[in-house]
This record gives sequence, structure tokens and C-alpha cells, in this order.
Amino acid sequence: MSFVVAIDGPAGAGKGTITKEVAEKLNLVNVDTGATFRCVALNMIKENVGLDEEEKIEKILEKINIEMKSNGEIFLNGENVTKKIRENDVNNFVSPVSTIQIVRNKLLEIQRKIAEGKDVIMEGRDIGTTVFPNADVKIYLDATPEERAKRRMLQNKEKGIETSYEEVLENIKDRDKRDSTRKVSPLKKAEDAIYIDSSDMTIDEVVNKVITLIKEKYKK
Ligand code: DC
Repeated sequence: MSFVVAIDGPAGAGKGTITKEVAEKLNLVNVDTGATFRCVALNMIKENVGLDEEEKIEKILEKINIEMKSNGEIFLNGENVTKKIRENDVNNFVSPVSTIQIVRNKLLEIQRKIAEGKDVIMEGRDIGTTVFPNADVKIYLDATPEERAKRRMLQNKEKGIETSYEEVLENIKDRDKRDSTRKVSPLKKAEDAIYIDSSDMTIDEVVNKVITLIKEKYKK
């Protein structure tokens, strides 16, 4: 038996930070499904495969091996790609890659397999709706586009990347639109997910709220 906590929401809502802290505090396996899409995008870049080259994409998917280590490191076909999957070429390519049906089918299989027999907290866009529609706890984490843009700017600054607020806000709005209007498995709150707007909350407040919700469920 495994216990599944699903955390969905748009880019910049804080899913990564919250999931990591809750996983550490409750000893759950942390699964970042965005990283699996990033691995496929990186593999396609490395092998020079375009978005419409279905046969070549199929070949990549047939032999792809994604490992998520307990220390958060990600390995793609044996290579440590933890940093590479966060670089700009992947950032710019991953969103269209995530709309390809055969990619989603394969990753759905991989994501379910990763969770088999474990207690997991899994973050993404469609975990509560598609990957684990029967998840024990479902949370939809949101924040206003303006707040998410501010957070992303800070993150970029820490990484030494200078971006303008307007540019980041525009990019976030574009991604929201693409992620929520795509045909396959769009970003959408599951009907039974608990909605948390983190715009005016601190990280600790959100973490505590999520932990309380999980503990309430455990008691039942
Ligand atoms: O969370 P992230 O920025 O690492 O996600 C990268 C991309 O993958 C993003 O464009 C949305 C997509 N994605 C998805 O479609 N479904 C998921 N479960 C997770 C991510």
C-alpha cells in the first residue's frame, strides 16, 4: 500500500519548495514530475530531435531511463543531469514537449512506477486529475501571477540571472495559458483538491497547512 499526496498548480506557485519541506518533515518520497518532462526535453535536444519527429521521439522513449535519487539528484540514462535540466535551452523547450501525447503516456507509466509501494508527495500539473486520481490528499497550490513573477525574479537573482519583472510576468502568463489550454492533460484543479492561495502566506504557513491536511487524512 502506498500513500499519495498530489500537489498541482501553475509555475512559480511554490510547489517545489513546499513539496521538498513537507517530504523531509513527514519522511515522504519527493517526486518532481516536471523533472521527468525536462529529462525528455534534454534527451531530445542532445539527439537533435524536433517536436514533430514522432518516430525519433518514440525511439528515445523506448530506451529512456530516469532515476530520482533520494538526495534529489536526477540521472538520465546514467548521467547526472540535475543542473542541466534547469538550463535555459531546456526551459524553453520543455513546455511544447509536455504537450506531446506519446511523451505524456510514457511519463505517466514512469511516474506511477516511481510511486509503487512508497509513501510519496508528487508535484506537477496533472497529478490529482490524471496520474493519481485516487490520491489520498490533493492540493492545488496557487498564487497571483504578479506574486509568482516576484518569486521567480528572486530565484533568478540568486542564480545570478538578471531579468525584468515585466519579462518574467509575461512569461508566467504565457505558460499559464499554454499549460491550462493544452488538449492533453491540462493544468486544472481536481474537483476534490483543496485550493491554497499562497500569495499572502509565508513558506512556513503553507508547509504547516499542508502537513495539517495530510495528518487529518492519516487519522481517518
Ligand atoms: O514544474 P516544471 O517547470 O519543472 O515543469 C516543466 C514543464 O513540464 C512545464 O512546462 C509543465 C510540464 N509539466 C506537465 O505538463 N505535467 C506535469 N505533471 C509536470 C510538468
